[in-house]
Amino acid sequence: MTLDTTAGAPEQAEVVPHGPESRRTFAIISHPDAGKTTLTEKLLLFGGAIRLAGDVKARGDRRRARSDWMKIEQARGISVTTSVMTFDYAGLAFNLLDTPGHEDFSEDTYRTLTAVDSAVMVIDAAKGIEPQTRKLFEVCRLRDVPITTFVNKLDREARDPFELLDEIADQLALDISPVTWPVGMGQSFQGCYHLISDRMLFLEGPRERAGAVIECSGLDDPKLAAALPAHLHDQLGEEAELARAGYPAFEAQAYREGHLTPVFFGSALRNFGVRELLDGLAHNAPPPRPQPASDRTVRPDDGKVSGFVFKVQANMDKNHRDRVAFLRVCSGRFQRGMKLTQARTGKTLSVYNPIFFFAQDRQLAEEAWAGDIIGVPNHGALRVGDTLSEGGDVRFTGIPDFAPEILNRVRLDDPMRAKHLRSALNDMAEEGVTQVFRPLTGGAWIVGVVGGLQLDVLSTRLEAEYNVKAGFEPAPFATARWVHGPKDEVERFADRQRASTAHDRDDALVFLARNAWELNRVQEEWPDLAFATTKERH
Ligand code: G4P
Repeated sequence: MTLDTTAGAPEQAEVVPHGPESRRTFAIISHPDAGKTTLTEKLLLFGGAIRLAGDVKARGDRRRARSDWMKIEQARGISVTTSVMTFDYAGLAFNLLDTPGHEDFSEDTYRTLTAVDSAVMVIDAAKGIEPQTRKLFEVCRLRDVPITTFVNKLDREARDPFELLDEIADQLALDISPVTWPVGMGQSFQGCYHLISDRMLFLEGPRERAGAVIECSGLDDPKLAAALPAHLHDQLGEEAELARAGYPAFEAQAYREGHLTPVFFGSALRNFGVRELLDGLAHNAPPPRPQPASDRTVRPDDGKVSGFVFKVQANMDKNHRDRVAFLRVCSGRFQRGMKLTQARTGKTLSVYNPIFFFAQDRQLAEEAWAGDIIGVPNHGALRVGDTLSEGGDVRFTGIPDFAPEILNRVRLDDPMRAKHLRSALNDMAEEGVTQVFRPLTGGAWIVGVVGGLQLDVLSTRLEAEYNVKAGFEPAPFATARWVHGPKDEVERFADRQRASTAHDRDDALVFLARNAWELNRVQEEWPDLAFATTKERH
């Protein structure tokens, strides 16, 4: 099969068709600074979802309107929260789940990736694959999420495209299929040649051919030679031939199975290559995938509504204590006012005021289909990992807690606030902001996080929302593992290792290891027990 990225792209429809087939739910993964925010803005502009570039990462005054705990975001200049943005393009409804890119704060990001059907990987053309790109890619690979690659910042001095593509192929063990090919770079960047539809796409610029497209009969078309400086024309001829011969042709099935990535080159800042990327997604990105549940796989066209919560955010509005649970709809046709059953508790919940997110705007969601994300306001009943369904007979799997990499004791400044601390930590744990462990020997609570920034978020929120002043001091533990095995053996282990064990918020036993060596030793000593690095949230 060939990739048809632009020719014949469906016209943008006035009304987005109903049904899961029209949904494209994706995330952008990248290392900080690769250009994710800039690309997001440009994608949303194409979809008409925002009027003003710059709204996504609002700076200065506009940010101050947001709730207090987001002060951390201002102080650190990063985006901590995950948001969802919906826009229409080419007759499809795109749901873009924004993932915080900061390398410190990744648990939320990981979970967000459980709610998407594909991802766009943004790579800085001067830097190639960076650590956070690789980490996020690995999470996508766990679920075979198809990846489209956007090599960004071609308007700056960049690395050789072959070198970049080979690096992606080698480091990520992926087949690479370039769709566009850069002509020049930095100061001399002219635009890209579309290898599949044989068109030269010019960068918008001050010259008369700004943003022009030349339809070519092939690389030897005289129009191309006339339009490009001679040395760049020669270079393009050689490179494009090599690229066509050296890399596999695009194959939709290999892409959808996560083995092959189509690659687009461009400059998000100059709004170049973004339309081709979006057209590529419109043509090839998969509609909602079937989702694994505990006893079956739920298909998007199953009649009954089901979905799972992948994120909970409190205090989106400081005047209300409400939280918003982000529900990824997995099947059925959701309608406002519907009663859904929570698998964990068996309780029913009437969803009267579900929210759709359009960049910074919110709207009541009258109906939603598989692939859509709706915000469900609640007073704390919904947790990350919860399944909601019409029949009450579904429980989705695969939304894990991750073994924390930082463990800290909580130091309470005012002992009179102990009860408040307990309930606050419980709430934060349910939101997935932190994990909370209660040592078997009593004593101070231990919080576990994947990245240090989570601790800042935690202490700011404890004070702002619960009026609890607490500090953190390092606990003498390096990591935690969930202990599974025969009941007797687990109990014997808890007894023998009292000083190094704790219960999590669901009373599951956790081993707290001082270092990797101790963890190994304990694993060897207790061969009948499993020491898990993740725990399914139910
Ligand atoms: P992130 O969300 O992945 O962290 O990256 P972001 O979009 O914030 O971009 C990081 C920096 O890279 C920004 O510059 C942005 O303007 C720049 N950038 C993004 N895409 C391109 C591109 O295609 N070409 C060039 N030349 N630069 C690009 P900054 O100076 O850190 O921020 P700002 O002051 O410009 O906002």
